[in-house]
Amino acid sequence: MPFVIMASRAPPLLLLLIVLSLVVLAALLAAAAADASAVAGGGRSSPSTTTFVLAGERTRRKDPLDGLRLYSGGWNISDEHYWASVGFTAAPVFAAAAIWFVVFGVSLFLAGCCFCCCPGSRRRGGGSYSCTALVVSLVLLLAFTAAAAVGCGVLYDGQGRFDGSTAATVEYVAGKSGDAVASLRGFASSMEAAKAAGVGPVSLPASVKGSIDGVVRKMSSAADELAAHTASNAAKIRDALETIRKILIVVAATMLILAVLGLAFSICGMESLVYVLVFLGWILVAATLLLCVTFLLLHNVVGDTCAAMGEWVQRPQARTALDDILPCVDTAAAADALARSKDVTHHLVTVLNGVIANVSNAAADGLPPPLYYNQSGPPVPLLCSPGERCAPGEVDLAAAPRAWRERVCRTTRAAAAAPEVCATVGRLTPAMYAQMVAAASACDALSRYGPVLADMADCAFVRRAFRVVGDEHCPGLGRHSAEVYRGLLAVAVAALASVVLWVAHSRERRRRRDAVELRAAASPYTVHHSHLEEGALLKSPRMMYR
Ligand SMILES: *[C@@H]1O[C@H](CO)[C@@H](O)[C@H](O)[C@H]1NC(C)=O
Ligand SMILES: *[C@@H]1O[C@H](CO)[C@@H](O)[C@H](O)[C@H]1NC(C)=O
Ligand SMILES: *[C@@H]1O[C@H](CO)[C@@H](O)[C@H](O)[C@H]1NC(C)=O
Repeated sequence: MPFVIMASRAPPLLLLLIVLSLVVLAALLAAAAADASAVAGGGRSSPSTTTFVLAGERTRRKDPLDGLRLYSGGWNISDEHYWASVGFTAAPVFAAAAIWFVVFGVSLFLAGCCFCCCPGSRRRGGGSYSCTALVVSLVLLLAFTAAAAVGCGVLYDGQGRFDGSTAATVEYVAGKSGDAVASLRGFASSMEAAKAAGVGPVSLPASVKGSIDGVVRKMSSAADELAAHTASNAAKIRDALETIRKILIVVAATMLILAVLGLAFSICGMESLVYVLVFLGWILVAATLLLCVTFLLLHNVVGDTCAAMGEWVQRPQARTALDDILPCVDTAAAADALARSKDVTHHLVTVLNGVIANVSNAAADGLPPPLYYNQSGPPVPLLCSPGERCAPGEVDLAAAPRAWRERVCRTTRAAAAAPEVCATVGRLTPAMYAQMVAAASACDALSRYGPVLADMADCAFVRRAFRVVGDEHCPGLGRHSAEVYRGLLAVAVAALASVVLWVAHSRERRRRRDAVELRAAASPYTVHHSHLEEGALLKSPRMMYR
């Protein structure tokens, strides 16, 4: 019975997996924020002094580790009292599973002993049976088999929906994490582009280039780490969900088959087969109840986590248990990240404006040959500083390539080795134009990534993701985990009742059979047992004639 072994071992493993998945789900989002802060390199700013208890109302439960007093610490997965109080909510179902396993197991054992040691006692039915008991047990058996079938249907439907909603949540979170990775990589590559940018021999100062190297290295390793974490965690969660899905489907199918077979065997009076099924049913009911415990816990933890996420989103300032796993309130790091990208942007804009003002727009006749290339015509517009209003005659980074294109000249060379000079009106050679556009677009990208990075560092990004998870995914997760729980409970209870009724109904049937046989043996007119009848007939005349 490989399944039985698997199912009875599954719950603790499953619980572990589920708890892990939840933590991992939160950690996935946390990783993005943590990496961003790490990249920005700032120390964590000291948390504000007010501590807010997340999901305080929901998590006020009896805590067995604290003498059953009400737990008041709120959602805090680092706190064993939280886990104890959540675990305690499943205590009744767990107790039911334990009682069933022990009590029914002992009765099964005793019945087995009786059956083996004193086989004769089985036959001593006393010849009396109750027709009412037979009918009532049959009706109840039919009702509970139907209930088990309905429970299996609910369970199957619930697992499908649960699987859909968890998969969607994981995809959403993994997608957000992917966005974060893309932002980090994009920022790093813009930094590298900015470092390489320059016009002719003019480029960024060496000190700025050095700081870019450091940022790029941190950023790339953070992006790689986050991408690897996301991929491996998402794969683990998908595997766990797939396992849960398979277990639930197998449970639904097995219990349905068990209920139908048990009904059929006990109606047909195949007592030995019924007892085999009773043994199977004993273990399967206990396993289903344990699975039920797992899903009740999962349902409660998911509900708490969703409530905690919702409250955390609304209170960015307070210190909460989520901040322990999400290093968020880190405005210094965010400011530092922004400052570095602004610094690089500023330097690059200065370099470009220097070239435009002192070379392209210069009066051509006063310049020595490398700076003189027969530039003429209207001046090239200068760049305005990013984030500031452009003065007349200036262009912003996004509009610069188009504005500069109008100032490009066609070039010729006097000799093969000679530098290019403008042959037509214009102030930029095509080569200069390409370099300036590359630099401007690196700046433009940096100024666009800056806010994204700040957004990640101060967790605004995670808060938005949590809000979407809370609004769009949590209701489904809660509903569907509850549906699976209810389906499992219905299946377990109906199967439990059915197992007991199989025994009761088979006994009533045997009693009736025994009673019929006994009556047949007692009655002289029965056609069966003709040898008895003959004996009686043969004896009586002799007695009469004597
Ligand atoms: C969460 O629990 C841990 C362990 O008991 C504790 O150190 C921490 O302060 C708790 N966090 C909050 C916000 O209560
Ligand atoms: C042009 O060059 C001079 C020195 O040669 C410098 O002082 C000035 O700042 C430069 N202009 C720009 C816009 O960089
Ligand atoms: C320099 O540019 C002018 C147009 O402004 C053009 O007529 C002239 O031929 C160019 N000189 C050379 C050497 O190409």
